[in-house]
Amino acid sequence: MAFERHPTALVESDAIGDGTRIWAFVHVLAGAVIGRGCNVGDHCYIEAGAVIGDDVTIKNGVSIWDGVTIERGVFIGPNVTLTNDRRPRSRAPWTLSRTLIREGATIGANATVLPGLTIGAFSMVAAGAVVTRDVPPHALVIGNPARVEGVVCACGATVRGSSPQTCRDCGRDVEARHGVAGAIPFVDLGANVADLSPDVFEVLRRVVAAGRYILGPEVAAFEREFAAYCGVDGAVGLDSGTSALELALRALGIGPGDEGVTQANTFIATASGIRYTGATPVLADVDPVTYTLDPAALERAITPRTKAVIPVHLYGQPASMTAIGAVAAAHGLAVVEDACQAHGARYRDRIVGSFGDAAAFSFYPSKNLGAFGDAGAVVSRRPDVLERVRGLRDYGQTAKYEHAVVGYNRRLDELHAAVLRLKLGRLDAWNDRRREAAALYDAALPGVGVVPPRAAPDRTHVYHVYAIRVRDRDGLRAHLATLGIQTGIHYPVPVHLQPACADLGYRRGDFPVTEVLAAEELSLPMYPEISAEQVKRVVDAIGAFGGRL
Ligand SMILES: Cc1ncc(COP(=O)(O)O)c(C=O)c1O
Repeated sequence: MAFERHPTALVESDAIGDGTRIWAFVHVLAGAVIGRGCNVGDHCYIEAGAVIGDDVTIKNGVSIWDGVTIERGVFIGPNVTLTNDRRPRSRAPWTLSRTLIREGATIGANATVLPGLTIGAFSMVAAGAVVTRDVPPHALVIGNPARVEGVVCACGATVRGSSPQTCRDCGRDVEARHGVAGAIPFVDLGANVADLSPDVFEVLRRVVAAGRYILGPEVAAFEREFAAYCGVDGAVGLDSGTSALELALRALGIGPGDEGVTQANTFIATASGIRYTGATPVLADVDPVTYTLDPAALERAITPRTKAVIPVHLYGQPASMTAIGAVAAAHGLAVVEDACQAHGARYRDRIVGSFGDAAAFSFYPSKNLGAFGDAGAVVSRRPDVLERVRGLRDYGQTAKYEHAVVGYNRRLDELHAAVLRLKLGRLDAWNDRRREAAALYDAALPGVGVVPPRAAPDRTHVYHVYAIRVRDRDGLRAHLATLGIQTGIHYPVPVHLQPACADLGYRRGDFPVTEVLAAEELSLPMYPEISAEQVKRVVDAIGAFGGRL
């Protein structure tokens, strides 16, 4: 199925999804992206850089500029004004101001949205409103300047006045934050901070009082403690997991002309980390049960240029490290574990991070061990690798203002290290709680017709992501959203089909298991603080979707 367009429409973009209809006198510039099943009304103008998700309706006379991102299921009424220029009369160099319109939002006719704002998921901007600040999820905003005047219930009805109230259409209790009483977020970092309070504030006070912010005692202590936790010689604190992948590979001598094999079903950063060294990422498919690198596929992907394998402990489940280690040893390959999703996971009673020549961890806030911003680390049993990563993260400095190699600024901040030290003490308990929640899902889900994740018997999964498979994934996701249950998809477009990886030369069909996951994977709410009652509500909600699965 292709898209349809009126004979008067001028469509220069080739990124238009199937089933989309483009009406009279529309102009879509090359570089604009429009998803599947959209409707673009008469006289719309869609600029290069505009991104429009699936099932979006845009009525007549709307210009969607570069920097405007519209997520799936949004409705934009006639003659809505969006812009990307915060200071149109300024002589200063122009800078792009982005606008994000989240999933399911509705914007009424003739409304104006100032640049740089986010319109929250399932919110409603009333006709003629002038939006001057971010709109929270499920909020009803009215007027000039637009103010929150009510709540949009999960059923789509608007409820004026302050919450809690009962929706007259569906009888649900509605609340301001999520539009439905007791909404269940995908992750709940607020609950996590509450669990750490007041200790976390004391830790932040300690760092501020010490007045050291970069590579000080907190980083040194965290590196010691995290290395001990992973059972390795040392750790080097960095600014992100992506840096950890790149610097570990560089420290192992991987660079231009080399190839690093990783799995096609992973976050793009695994491939990016390989690319940043100048090497080429080579992809292989995943095992259909554990969704981690298939050792046989790895073997097939090896060429004379292959220098490293980067197995990903995906979703928190360790890869098949014995088989992968054997392939790597037979071909003389370095092993860099991508442990960014698997802090504390175990393979045959050995903790991840201790298998390879090095391992990369991310401490992105929502990870099992997360900082209050971007952060990461390399861990390794090899002192030579640790020393090289330490140099690369800090301008290649050997002593103050003496630079042995070209390095970078990729350092871990003291504030993050201090928070990570506090959280490291809770990591095992939090992982236990994730496993308890997973066990509740595991027990209940087969009865409602979806495929739950399977932890291989020789592995201790830490459920960074609780990934189910379901044929009508998008339908189930939309159904859960109407009940205030947030979900995720890991990952809707696999690495080999990303435009950013077009130069790698892969095609649809190259990695069948990965492609099934891209179409069917749905990540359910999962965090240590999720209650048994919340898990039951998610399961019941899936059950209610039932026959259509
Ligand atoms: C598998 C995987 N690899 C690498 C990364 C990159 O980590 P960061 O976001 O800290 O750069 C992530 C983060 O989401 C990840 O999930």
